[in-house]
Amino acid sequence: MKGREAVILGCGYVGLRLARLLADAGYRVTGTTRDPDRFDEIRAAGARPVLMEAEEPESISPLAELAPAIVFDTVRPQRRTGDDYSIRATENLAAEFSGVGLEAYVHLSATSVYGRRSGAWTDEETPPDPVSPVGKARLRMERHLLALSDTGVLPVRICRVPGIYGPGRTLRSRLESGRYTLVEGVDQWVSRIHVDDLAAAVVAAATRGRDGRIYLLADDEPTLARDYARLTARLLRLPEPGSRDPASLREELSSSGFERRVSARRCRNRRMREELGVELRYPTVREGVPAALREEGALA
Ligand SMILES: NC(=O)c1ccc[n+]([C@@H]2O[C@H](COP(=O)([O-])OP(=O)(O)OC[C@H]3O[C@@H](n4cnc5c(N)ncnc54)[C@H](OP(=O)(O)O)[C@@H]3O)[C@@H](O)[C@H]2O)c1
Repeated sequence: MKGREAVILGCGYVGLRLARLLADAGYRVTGTTRDPDRFDEIRAAGARPVLMEAEEPESISPLAELAPAIVFDTVRPQRRTGDDYSIRATENLAAEFSGVGLEAYVHLSATSVYGRRSGAWTDEETPPDPVSPVGKARLRMERHLLALSDTGVLPVRICRVPGIYGPGRTLRSRLESGRYTLVEGVDQWVSRIHVDDLAAAVVAAATRGRDGRIYLLADDEPTLARDYARLTARLLRLPEPGSRDPASLREELSSSGFERRVSARRCRNRRMREELGVELRYPTVREGVPAALREEGALA
């Protein structure tokens, strides 16, 4: 495995942790961004930074010419106006990497493809039923990629990701400023995963996953939004958040933003554990949140 090339399309929050993991495992890592000001942080994570705009195919082709063994695609559906999302970026990326002899093309999707779920248990066999415009676009992306996998030109593994948290992505600043509110009358079940466990799980999807397969990458224990907020508030000795009525929230948020606040999915991770052999460092938010707050410097 050592000395092989890995490309991270979109070296953002997850991509930076992924880059560090891959570099430590001996991969030569290339991480892309659209912003040259981000080059230093990508270099600091052990990757070679490259500019890439997925809407422009000519900026993707030099990456395919690197002949990577594995590619991680974290590029989301691109919002045009209002509720209109385009999957052109994904189509461009998939076209450039098709037929180049990759071992794995790992695409990060989201659990928004499942829709609201009303607290029901959810796994890879649950039929997708997206409600939000972004969830619908995600499903179109997945289907486009899986069709390419079926024809054998792109070895796609789809990773459906729930709420990502970790250092820099905790509720701390929103609780401190009072901007975080719960939604009245909604028992919002949320599955989450710590960013370091997510990075390890997507590497496992690349190295141990199967082509054309979907993997739901979640920790062991979904939590209610109010319990997650209480956990963070208690650790930081902050007041618990108040709540808002859904109608006033609906006026403020985009359709996709609102769906995020009223959906309630409890995700099972059996396939991730059994097929990918992932051992979670943070099996629940009770371990992960204090660790993240410590890394943020907010806890001793
Ligand atoms: N946050 C969550 O809880 C959550 C939950 C489920 C799924 N996800 C998904 O998981 C993936 C990774 O999340 P993340 O938190 O790491 O996201 P992130 O920090 O926003 O990073 C996304 C990366 O994609 C790149 N990108 C976006 N549009 C692009 C385009 N048109 N062309 C080229 N690059 C583009 C960004 O480039 P720049 O460096 O130029 O910004 C960035 O490097 C995303 O698809 C996200 O939607 C997130």
